[in-house]
Amino acid sequence: MTGLTSEHLTAMAAKHGTPLYVYDAALIRERYRALGDACGAYPHDIHYAIKANATLAIVRLMRACGACADANSGGEIEVALRAGFAPKEIVFTGVGKTGAEIERAVTLGVKAINAESPGEVERIASIAERHPGAAARVAIRINPDVDAESHPHISTGLRTNKFGMSIDAARALAREIGRHPSLRIVGLHVHIGSQITKTAPLARAAEALAGLATELMTEGVKLEHLDVGGGLGIPYQAGQPVVSPSEYVAAILPPIRKTGLRLVLEPGRWIVGPAGVLVTTVVDLKEQPADPKSGEARWFVIADAGMTDLLRPALYGAWHDIAPVNPRPGDDRLCDIVGPVCETTDTLGSARRLPPVEVGDLLVVRDAGAYGSVMASNYNRRAVPAEVMDGRLIRRRQTIEDLLQWDV
Ligand code: LLP
Repeated sequence: MTGLTSEHLTAMAAKHGTPLYVYDAALIRERYRALGDACGAYPHDIHYAIKANATLAIVRLMRACGACADANSGGEIEVALRAGFAPKEIVFTGVGKTGAEIERAVTLGVKAINAESPGEVERIASIAERHPGAAARVAIRINPDVDAESHPHISTGLRTNKFGMSIDAARALAREIGRHPSLRIVGLHVHIGSQITKTAPLARAAEALAGLATELMTEGVKLEHLDVGGGLGIPYQAGQPVVSPSEYVAAILPPIRKTGLRLVLEPGRWIVGPAGVLVTTVVDLKEQPADPKSGEARWFVIADAGMTDLLRPALYGAWHDIAPVNPRPGDDRLCDIVGPVCETTDTLGSARRLPPVEVGDLLVVRDAGAYGSVMASNYNRRAVPAEVMDGRLIRRRQTIEDLLQWDV
């Protein structure tokens, strides 16, 4: 049960307009705590994956909870610093780090730069050489060739995916880094994908990570931590089987425990996903030709939020529960809930059964706290929505003036 009640959503929409992201801080805190509790007494750090929701107030909330940070770009490093994280609390991940981003991470002295390739390690080394002092702290991201069995667009652990490097390449690189004066290898990293709902792939990735760590430590390579990435899925639909935090930890911890190394996690979605919703207003209703199979009447419910506000349904065919905030009595109707953007894929939900709705009614799109506002865009010169948490505005709605100020 969240604090995102109909009364609250109605009041927030009246005050701030729609589309509007609404978050429940208590639920974020509770979920953060549940993940930590599942890790028990084993030494661990939870690095919140900022990419899931990078709104400053939420990143600050994660810090207040005691989390560390996982940044995926120079921009996210700056957000982490602005939220008050110390460099030693930040891991920096991501394919294609630029020289400027590496330089920033090296001079800050982040906890680990999760290196994606041997070439990147060379670039880190040459930048670190120019900054004598502390050696750059590097973790190697392995690609264990494990199928996360999630949506292919968000699976990252197969050898055909662009992420990380093979175990063989990582082994050779770890030995080289050990001999490099301006680099220090501090850990190994793996992240096989997102919205993972089975334990086996997570366990296999952790085993691969721990296996390589054991080999390297036997050779005398000194490591500090093993970073198992993020990926824990949430139930977007009632009854959808998912992995609980305790099942998750039971899957990943046994191999890590054998190494004795500190456990690092990078969860995003699991913490913030269910704690946010998108509230949108019905702006038009249009009857479609009857459903070809059943002959049943079918309606377009046209909302003021679309793919520019919540991209997941258009991009992945992702399901988000949608319901009227204040349901009216009457029989359900077969509906496609669509946005105002000039793309056929601009859908929030297809073939849904909704109680009767009228123009001006509010709809709530659930589980939008992760990969919602961060993936919003200005396509069609649309303004990115406002965001509120616990009744407080945490990000104001963009205006057309905001958008136009970049045009020179
Ligand atoms: N660590 C790394 C290196 C990552 O690439 C990601 C997510 C995470 C941690 C956090 O994963 P999580 O715990 O949130 O699953 N836009 C997609 C999700 C992309 C995830 C990208 N990487 C979506 O809307 O489903």
